[in-house]
Parts: sequence; C-alpha cells; structure tokens
Amino acid sequence: MATVTVGAVRERAPGERRVALVPEAVTLLRRIGLDVLVEAGAGSGAWFTDADYTDAGAGVVSPGELYARADAVLCVGPPDPERAQVLRGEQTLIGLLEPLRHPDLVRELHRRGVRTVSLDLLPRTLSRAQSMDALTSQASVAGYKAAVLAADSYDRFFPMLTTAAGTMRPAQVLVLGAGVAGLQAIATARRLGAVVTAYDVRPESREEVESLGARFLDIQRPPGTGSGAGQGGYARELTEAEQAAQREALDAHIARTDIVITTAQVPGRKPPLLVTVGAVEAMRPGSVVVDLAASELGGNVGGSVPDKTVVLENGVTVIGAGHLPSAMATAASTAYARNIVAVLRHLVHDGRLFFDPADEITAALTQGAPS
Ligand code: NAI
Repeated sequence: MATVTVGAVRERAPGERRVALVPEAVTLLRRIGLDVLVEAGAGSGAWFTDADYTDAGAGVVSPGELYARADAVLCVGPPDPERAQVLRGEQTLIGLLEPLRHPDLVRELHRRGVRTVSLDLLPRTLSRAQSMDALTSQASVAGYKAAVLAADSYDRFFPMLTTAAGTMRPAQVLVLGAGVAGLQAIATARRLGAVVTAYDVRPESREEVESLGARFLDIQRPPGTGSGAGQGGYARELTEAEQAAQREALDAHIARTDIVITTAQVPGRKPPLLVTVGAVEAMRPGSVVVDLAASELGGNVGGSVPDKTVVLENGVTVIGAGHLPSAMATAASTAYARNIVAVLRHLVHDGRLFFDPADEITAALTQGAPS
C-alpha cells in the first residue's frame, strides 16, 4: 500500500531553536502509517537527540536524502532561498511560511509546482481547526515567557508581600493587545501576583481580560470611530489619526505602570506603534517594557530593538522580544509538532496526501498553491 513520507528539516534561521517534529509526534505519525524522516541534528536546539528520534521510529538522514525522499517537508519558519531552491514540484512544504511577509518566496514555489501549506493561513475561528492552530500554540508560549521575562528583569516583587520589615506593594502590569499572547501574559502575571490592566482595540476582548481577573482599560476614542475589529477575529489597521489618539490616551497610563507588555499585531502589516519614545522616557527608573512585536518590520514600542535588551539612560529596560517561542524551544516545538500532526491527519487519506478544494481548512491552508 502507498504511504506518505514526511521529513522534518533542521531550522536554519539565526537564533531559531525550534523543530517541526518532536519524538512524541514521530510516534503518532508512525501509528497512522506515515514514514518519518528527520534531518540529523534537527532537534538539538530543543534538547532532542537523533537517538530520541530513531527510538520513536524516524529515519535520521542528511538534508540531501530528506529532500529527495520526502513527499512533505515539515518546517517551522519559511526556508531560506537556498533551501527553497531544493524543493521540487509535487513536493509539499508545511510550516509557518508567512506568505504575507514573503509573497515572492511563496509565489516562486508555486510557480515551480511546490504545494505550500501555510499554517498561518488557518481559519482560526473554526472549532475543528483548533488542534492545527500553530499561531495560537506559539503565541501562548510567547505570552507566558514575556511575563516571566518581565518579572525576571524587574528588580522588585510582582506580588504584594507582607514581611516583618513591612509590606511591599504589588507590581502594576499593563498588557497592550489582548489576543492569544496578551491573554497568556495577563494570566501569567496574575499568577505571579501582579495587578494587571489590559487594553485591546477589539471590544470583545474586554470580557476575556476581565475573566482573567485583570482590569480592562477604557480609553477615549475619537468621536465617530468604529470598532477596531477587522476580518476573521483580527484587529483592523487603525487610521493615523486613530493611532495618534490612542497613543495620547495611553501615555498617562504607561507613565504610572511598572511593566508594559505589548503584543499588538495586524496581519500582514507593520505592527502599530503603541508606546512612543516619549512615553518610555516618562516611565519610572526600574520599569520594564517587553515588546513582543519587535521585528525587522518595526514594533509596538519606540526604540525597541529586535532580540536585544536595552537599558535606557532613565533606567527603563526595553526588551525587543519578537522571537520568544524559540526561547522556550522544547515547549514550543512540542505544541507545534502536535499542530503538524493534526494537519497531517487532516490531509492524509488512504496512504496519500489529499487536498480537497471543497474543504474550507485545506483551501485556506493551500491558498494560491498549484492544484
Ligand atoms: P494578533 O497576534 O494578530 O494580535 C494581537 C492582539 O493585538 C489582537 O488581540 C489585536 O486585536 C490587538 N491589536 C491590534 N492592533 C492593536 C492596537 N492598535 N491597539 C491595541 N491592540 C491591538 O492576534 P491573535 O492573538 O493571533 O488573535 C487574533 C484573533 O483570533 C483574536 O480575536 C483571537 O481571540 C482570535 N482567535 C480565536 C480562536 C478561536 O476562536 N478558537 C483561536 C485563536 C485566536
């Protein structure tokens, strides 16, 4: 009987420690009849050895053999141009391919007959798609780590502590953007005992923020502005005037806060600037700002530098933290691999990959790919 061979590559992006399959996922894929290859050393950044993969039933191979034999190549981030070149027609590439950010890469793969399955195009509000939702699994890791990182960089306590030497006040945390990462950051900061306030442009996020025991920040919006909600549960891009009004309204709150964690994104766009350089300068010495949106596209915080921690002259620490899932590579890879297994379960039928154009999930994941 025919069988599908999948192969997980070693990620090559600088600083990327995640891997698309962990040994537990190999076992699950073997159980549903797939042949599994893993590139030698692919799991080392997430603390999985080649022997762990072999024990789970995978073949550990060179990149050349993997690309030659795999029907579906599994990755976390998009391939570099050199790797993309090795993929051949009829092969399928599955990963967080960021087609909105790298349209040329995806277009070129399609031109050569490579089918792409971009996990970032999943229709996330469909409940039957939830097990495949890699954006959610990775954002949860990032949100958790952001709160822990903020606590670690803050030279006071998060909780209120009553000791023989008196009472310490709890930290005031402000979370801007209450999507998946923001809600996880709120929950984690609350568990550590901080007093948390949060804000999002989508009005429906209020209930979620409050259900976690945080306060929703009401800021005045310019008269006549509609909801900040856009398509598919995401935020829309605010106009320049709306953004300026939002920043002005946030400034006073930011100045009173010990910790700011920003997570605001708008799909395919530059992240909105929520915290200006002036607002950071007005914060108290010892305050900490974590910018989860910091990347080469920009960030939510003026002056944040991707993957760098900067201590400003006024004593405020600004952490550019756009790649936090990789900083918890084992948890992030384990969750991601479960998403990949769910996608493969969805696509593999009778020993072959089957792309049903009438299926809403498949159609979204393979948008623009050759049929
Ligand atoms: P995201 O990563 O695109 O953005 C993070 C947050 O930033 C969002 O909540 C967004 O509203 C907010 N934001 C954007 N611009 C902003 C601004 N100018 N000021 C303040 N906040 C701003 O979003 P994420 O976390 O990927 O979630 C997107 C949506 O998908 C959410 O509505 C989420 O609840 C929904 N979702 C639904 C699922 C389901 O129904 N099962 C599963 C996962 C996500």
